[in-house]
Amino acid sequence: LEVWWTRMRKESPLHYNREHQYWEVFRYEDVNRVLSDHHTFSSQNRRRQKEEPVFHDSILSLDPPQHTLLRSIVSRSFSPAFLREWEPRIRTIAKDLLLQTPPDFDLINHFAYPLPVTVIADMMGVPSKDQPMFRQWVDRLFTMENDPTNIRFADETKPDERKRIRSVQMDMKQYFRDIVHERKQRPQNDLISLLVDSHSHGQISEEEILSFCFLLLLAGHITTTNLIGNAVFSLAEDPETYRLVQKDHGHIPLFIEEVLRYHSPVRFVTRTAAHDVRLGGETLHAGETVVAWIASANRDEQVFDRPDRFIANRKPNPHLAFGKGIHFCLGAPLARMEAQIAMQALLSHWNRKEQIQIQEARPVKTVFLNGYEKLTIAS
Ligand code: HEM
Repeated sequence: LEVWWTRMRKESPLHYNREHQYWEVFRYEDVNRVLSDHHTFSSQNRRRQKEEPVFHDSILSLDPPQHTLLRSIVSRSFSPAFLREWEPRIRTIAKDLLLQTPPDFDLINHFAYPLPVTVIADMMGVPSKDQPMFRQWVDRLFTMENDPTNIRFADETKPDERKRIRSVQMDMKQYFRDIVHERKQRPQNDLISLLVDSHSHGQISEEEILSFCFLLLLAGHITTTNLIGNAVFSLAEDPETYRLVQKDHGHIPLFIEEVLRYHSPVRFVTRTAAHDVRLGGETLHAGETVVAWIASANRDEQVFDRPDRFIANRKPNPHLAFGKGIHFCLGAPLARMEAQIAMQALLSHWNRKEQIQIQEARPVKTVFLNGYEKLTIAS
């Protein structure tokens, strides 16, 4: 992919994919513009599905003014004070997970997956015994083929696959509906109770709560799993970086930013042109789909010095891994905190290790996300 992005940034920065009928955008400047100009590049999903969707549009696919209203309500539940309260709990979860690992272990299965899923499930107020079920849901939802030229949209999904996805979504919806009803009776100190409270003041509908829960459960952990996995992969690839951060954990925050840039967990976002617009020397027409390659922007030689080198203490590092503009990742402070705590815990766990060696690395099977579904660390 990296080689292809470099070529596209140079030769065809605005590329029309005829087969699937969408524009692809590769340069930092253009990706930045697509993300920042929400009047022109709408987040609404205009490629309509054939049936009524199971979940209403989530915050991700709303435009202002609906987006502004919903964001102001849900962002209350991600306040710095709320996050600070969670920090010790996240440390405990990370330490407990590492206590249970065998000497050579699959980092994803034993650590990078369960950590964020436990955190988000706890924050939402979902019992941890249901976590295996979440994993099954996620596995069944993400099964796109690993072909860089094949980004498929919901309207292109085959009928049997559509049926499978719908059935998973219906299970999830029923599950969350039960929790919401329970919290109406007995509020707790959790995200769902906060949302139910806003609902009782008429600020948010029950359908909006349910689709937000669906989004949180997916966006809130699979991306963070990939970030932690990619961070460890970087340490194995580059022993010098490993020695640097192992010697002084103070380097972890900048190191994580470089992992976000170099191995961006989310590779692209999509938008729809709201009206005709000139971009990168081409004219995009109203209604056309735009695929903005965040991961390519993060390797743009116009913005980053030696972009194809991993520089653990790179500064400044204006990467777009969490997006930009009004949809900028709501969970970014949480993801950063989780990744930093995860690295501190892992580096302490490995304090006698000279280097990190990986026995098996199996990448995830979708071009949308960058990460590993298996990463076995040698003892
Ligand atoms: C939005 C990436 C972790 C919740 C986004 C967007 C990106 C992103 C690129 C913008 C999408 C767009 O513009 O269309 C990531 C990455 C993560 C991460 C790389 C981890 C490394 C999280 C976590 C949560 C979360 C932990 C919640 C607990 C959200 C939500 C939005 C969002 C709710 C939608 C915001 C809006 O539309 O206003 N994320 N995310 N994300 N993310 Fe994350």
